[in-house]
Amino acid sequence: MEPVRDSLRPPRVVLGVCGGIAAYKAVDVCRRLVDAGVHVVPVMTVEATRFVGEVTFSALASEPVQTSLFDESSPIPHTVLGQTADLVVVAPATAQLLARYAGGFSDDLLSATLLATRAPVLVCPAMHTEMWEHPAVQENLATLLRRGVHVLEPEEGRLAGGDVGAGRLADPATIAQRVLELLGRDEVVGTQGDLVGVRVVVSAGGTREPIDPVRFLTNRSSGKQGLALAESAARRGAEVTLVTAAPLVVRPELAARVTVVGVESASDMERAMLAAAAGAQVVVMAAAVADFRPKAPAEHKLAKGDGVPEIVLEPTPDILAALSNARRPGQVLVGFAAETHDVLAHGRAKLERKRVDLLVVNDVSQPGVGFDHDTNAVVILDDAGSSFDIPLTTKSAVADAVFDRVSARLSAHERKTPQP
Ligand code: PMT
Repeated sequence: MEPVRDSLRPPRVVLGVCGGIAAYKAVDVCRRLVDAGVHVVPVMTVEATRFVGEVTFSALASEPVQTSLFDESSPIPHTVLGQTADLVVVAPATAQLLARYAGGFSDDLLSATLLATRAPVLVCPAMHTEMWEHPAVQENLATLLRRGVHVLEPEEGRLAGGDVGAGRLADPATIAQRVLELLGRDEVVGTQGDLVGVRVVVSAGGTREPIDPVRFLTNRSSGKQGLALAESAARRGAEVTLVTAAPLVVRPELAARVTVVGVESASDMERAMLAAAAGAQVVVMAAAVADFRPKAPAEHKLAKGDGVPEIVLEPTPDILAALSNARRPGQVLVGFAAETHDVLAHGRAKLERKRVDLLVVNDVSQPGVGFDHDTNAVVILDDAGSSFDIPLTTKSAVADAVFDRVSARLSAHERKTPQP
């Protein structure tokens, strides 16, 4: 039976989750789809429940998680799921799932649903490089592609166990975007959301403080967290300025909403941030600004023959302090703090000293947290004394959590300010 699509009802997407380390990223995919107005029905394999709790998906999705072919409330859950879906997406799709799907097996709810649907199917594989490159996996994938299944190939990057190579699940934002495109709803991205009409400025990357014309002092910041923040705000409808000391590329579908301003030093960043912040309702300092810079950078390249130079340092401008002094009424100011010990105590002290509304603290001594990782774990502190724990997840999910708090503050301010 062909699914009958009522254009007024939200599209219905079955989100299949297999048992792999990337299963946690499916939580982010789920959230993004729900935010975009999609009715998400999560189906987990039994193995997936060993990686992420069912409760997590049930809380975020449009319906409780289903895991079994034998459901007391429905004798044939797979056919109901398959027939009523407008699209089925599997993320992560393991080698095992690809083999079962290609082979026509239907021994669990997810594989049976895949056979029982005529809706488009998108699979997003994730596995170790050796498995991904194995001829068995590639042949199964070729079979699925021949049958019209859409495949979002994995990316290169860090894999479980610290290995690096092809096989990492595509970014949740990319998966959600692909789902919306397949549903014909890509126009939704960036045109709806709680930040429509809001101007947001985000800083990113580690500043470079010149020693001479070819050398500089810097730090390990990649700009990934700043980019994720800029993209999250743009996805929610904001007009964003991204002031960055790192070379960053915004996703094509969001590029029209993000103006990228490249800077080098802390002084450049201060100028660019103050200029952009003058017209913004939200300012987020995720950049790792150098605290010190050479007091007198050499005009010419220092040569070995001149002996070992003595470099005298001086403090850089405190950009957050300048932003706080120039703050317009109702503007939300967010700082970040990279800490390695006594994280919360240092965070609280910094929140007060820097006079920000929210301070996002990351303990960069922990694995997968902070500089140059694709993941982060943070505590968001607010000036009213509350704290929100965001355990290890993608930098996109951290960015969304930050903007959830920002959005709540903007709404509270709007409620307090009399409207003309
Ligand atoms: O870029 P990634 O590789 O993705 O890594 C992300 C990150 C670790 C850089 C990010 O999550 C982060 O923690 N950014 C802030 C790092 C930092 O400089 O923390 P801090 O505790 O030294 O500074 C506190 C705040 O003051 C920050 O908002 C910082 O931008 C700001 N600052 C610092 C120095 C200065 N001269 N001016 C400032 O405005």
